[in-house]
Amino acid sequence: MKILVLGTGGREHSIAWKLKQHHRDVYLHPGNAGTLKVGIPNLGNITSLDEISIHAKNLNIDLIVIGPEALLAQDQASQLRKAGFLVVGPGLEGAQLETSKVFAKKFMARAQVPSAAFRIYLNLEELTQGIQNGSYPKVLKLDGLAAGKGVVIAKNPDEAIEFAHRVWVQKVFGPSPQRIIEEDFIPGVELSYIGLCDGKTFVPLSSSTDFKRVYDEDKGPNTGGMGAVSPSPYLNSELENKIKTRIVAPILKTFVEEKIDFRGVLYIGIMIDRHQNPWVLEFNTRFGDPETQSLMMRMEDDLTPLLLATAKGQLATAAPIRWTDQTAVYVVGAALGYPDKVLTGSPISGWETTSSDVQIFFSSVELKNQTLVTAGGRVLGVGALGNNVEEARTKAYQRLKNIVWEGIHYRKDIGLTR
Ligand code: GLY
Repeated sequence: MKILVLGTGGREHSIAWKLKQHHRDVYLHPGNAGTLKVGIPNLGNITSLDEISIHAKNLNIDLIVIGPEALLAQDQASQLRKAGFLVVGPGLEGAQLETSKVFAKKFMARAQVPSAAFRIYLNLEELTQGIQNGSYPKVLKLDGLAAGKGVVIAKNPDEAIEFAHRVWVQKVFGPSPQRIIEEDFIPGVELSYIGLCDGKTFVPLSSSTDFKRVYDEDKGPNTGGMGAVSPSPYLNSELENKIKTRIVAPILKTFVEEKIDFRGVLYIGIMIDRHQNPWVLEFNTRFGDPETQSLMMRMEDDLTPLLLATAKGQLATAAPIRWTDQTAVYVVGAALGYPDKVLTGSPISGWETTSSDVQIFFSSVELKNQTLVTAGGRVLGVGALGNNVEEARTKAYQRLKNIVWEGIHYRKDIGLTR
């Protein structure tokens, strides 16, 4: 079996690392300088989808797994399917569950999936007026991709208007006018319910919880994710039954009714309220980052049969996979300045060794004079397995202490419950 994973980050590194335990020919394209250094090949110096497709054909690639949402937003999944490949990743319509918050909210309303009440604003004037009503805090979300940074919890109208200014006046998320959604705030704890979906069947992977804010105790701005723990400390069988009946089943029914061909990863971001009821916060249509890194460390079987069944639309007959009972804690090391403008080019030392229960996954690194240097916000992460959260935390933080670059920062509370 020859498998190609598309993407650059820690999520894709962990998927390729896991697949490589079972298959000799695993490619990660383009990957990064770190994944190349640890022996995961890419397809060489090519960037266009046509070139990737030709190269993959020449290599007799059997299966392509698309990592990042940006590639799904370009409809690369459909194009690669048209070129004859088996692909894990939804086409444009399914990907809209992630690329458009408005699409996702309307889909949830049609499917009658529990989700917070919402309003849509098209410009600053509308928002400035509408935002005065109702209680605070309110959640404001950009209607588009923003690497996890397009969400704020506004404590008052001023904070809501400040976010709208950043979107529409300063245009920090891009030049074209974008819609903003206002949602009621649901207090609770978060759970990432990630599974493979072929449009008719959903097979959940194990659970995880990520830590989105940049600083300890959930302080500071949202990031792409500063760490994760798997299994999630918040899931139990009663809650999982509610998630399956109230959320997963109506989603699948709506996919079938609306003929949405969804063959990929469905990530359901869930808020659990104080009555133990699940509410959908968001959908992603790809593996979570950094949740995936913690999941891959706990996965005991080969993921390939499930990926193939997803791509072929045959998940209903796929065998379940086994997970270790151990806990995985994954801690992201970030560059100075993250999640704002970051310092890049800082040499990284101390990353060279790993063990069976402590792994390093590279996100944003490059080579300068044969040395790995920082190249973006989330630089790398350390994942560790332990018999409980404390043991996994201790191993992860001990390993991370020996990794050094100028301005490295990371949360110290990954894995702890809130
Ligand atoms: N960890 C959140 C995400 O992958 O979007």
